Amino acid sequence: MSGATDTVVVVGGGGREHALAWALSRSSRVARVLVVPGNPGTAAEPKCTNIDLSADDTDGIVELARSEAAGLVVVGPEGPLVDGLVDALSRVGIAAFGPSAAAARLEGSKVHCKEFLLQHGIATGHAASFTDADAALAHLDELDSVPVVKASGLAAGKGVIVADTFVEAADAVRSILIDGRFGAAGAEVLLEERLFGVEVSILAFCDGTDFKLMPAAQDHKRLLAGDEGPNTGGMGAFHPSPVADSQLLDQIGRDVISPTLAALAAEGRPYRGVLYAGMMLTADGPKVIEYNCRFGDPETQVVLPLLESDLLDVLEACVEGRLAAESIEWAPQAAVTVVVASAGYPVHGSDPEPIEGLDDAIEQGCKVFHAGTKTIEGVVHASGGRVFAVTAVAPELAAAADAAHGGVAAISFAGAHHRRDIARATAEVPS
Ligand code: AMP
Ligand code: GLY
Repeated sequence: MSGATDTVVVVGGGGREHALAWALSRSSRVARVLVVPGNPGTAAEPKCTNIDLSADDTDGIVELARSEAAGLVVVGPEGPLVDGLVDALSRVGIAAFGPSAAAARLEGSKVHCKEFLLQHGIATGHAASFTDADAALAHLDELDSVPVVKASGLAAGKGVIVADTFVEAADAVRSILIDGRFGAAGAEVLLEERLFGVEVSILAFCDGTDFKLMPAAQDHKRLLAGDEGPNTGGMGAFHPSPVADSQLLDQIGRDVISPTLAALAAEGRPYRGVLYAGMMLTADGPKVIEYNCRFGDPETQVVLPLLESDLLDVLEACVEGRLAAESIEWAPQAAVTVVVASAGYPVHGSDPEPIEGLDDAIEQGCKVFHAGTKTIEGVVHASGGRVFAVTAVAPELAAAADAAHGGVAAISFAGAHHRRDIARATAEVPS
């Protein structure tokens, strides 16, 4: 273990970063957590201070870390990672948790990720990439089944269209390649074999050579109960997943994470940070849907409350390449997080609405991680998008689900909506 690290900077302002700042504030080695830009939830955490800078302001964050003598900068979102924030910090000798831009390309370019997976024989769906709309549409005509249409670049979690018909897929291709729906992120599209099965998020701490898996979480991607409606950034998550037993985790570690780290190291871009494998458990075995170069949101809000070790120790072990010797302890408990979104989500923003009952949920024993909130005249308002996630931990999944849903029921704002079936079979959902 290293010596004292007084000041830690957390970059980002969502629920994931609230969970990171909260977990770091619990470290006895941390005196201050500066959150860039943070949210009203991080502002209220002990030791935490929000800093009014954008998460995309590389120069500003480097200057902040330097002037505040930060011992570690923890980067939450993919954008700054893909843009090289960790490289910029490393160049001036500031320790930073997260992959380099070269390693983060696995998330920054879905075309690159697919080529990487195929080249290294890691199980994934087949796919073809196109910059030309006519060529993509001609390819669609040749396929036997409707593919998933993906903008290759970063599109704030909205660049994947799971089409049900060829007409929808063709519309998606035109809107991305001709109408420029995702701007430069959609200069190239991937037409990818649609995979069927249960989806599991496997997150690994990585130090360039070694890795340690976090408890597996299942994320509910679709907006509506019963997995209906459009894809979202994630409406809730839970652990344990009934499908992710230790044998499956061993298999994914051995066949997916390990060869990925070895290949990246051999290519001169060792991966340090969290590698998040979005896996589909298909009838032909687990296949990679995508890699993310960061913690998941909302997976982090269920996983970090289970961490018994000091998060700072774990992150520093990753940065310093000594993860193999670090023991990471997790509570053998269940955790559930339920996301509450504002009226327009995921299509459009919403006007601010005052939130009531936050303290009631906390009094019930839940943890509320803020995301789309802002304080107006001293009152916390919902400001659009995913507004907050309510997490509960309990010995059994059913009890954790009841507690998290109970916490959600205590909180209200105009237009609030959430899924009632998070961590519950649809048959158990109260009407
Ligand atoms: P991504 O941004 O690549 O994680 O995609 C968002 C979501 O779209 C995934 O979590 C899946 O639910 C869905 N998805 C992406 N690719 C596929 C695929 N090849 N087959 C089925 N579903 C997919
Ligand atoms: N929960 C999905 C993601 O973080 O990308």
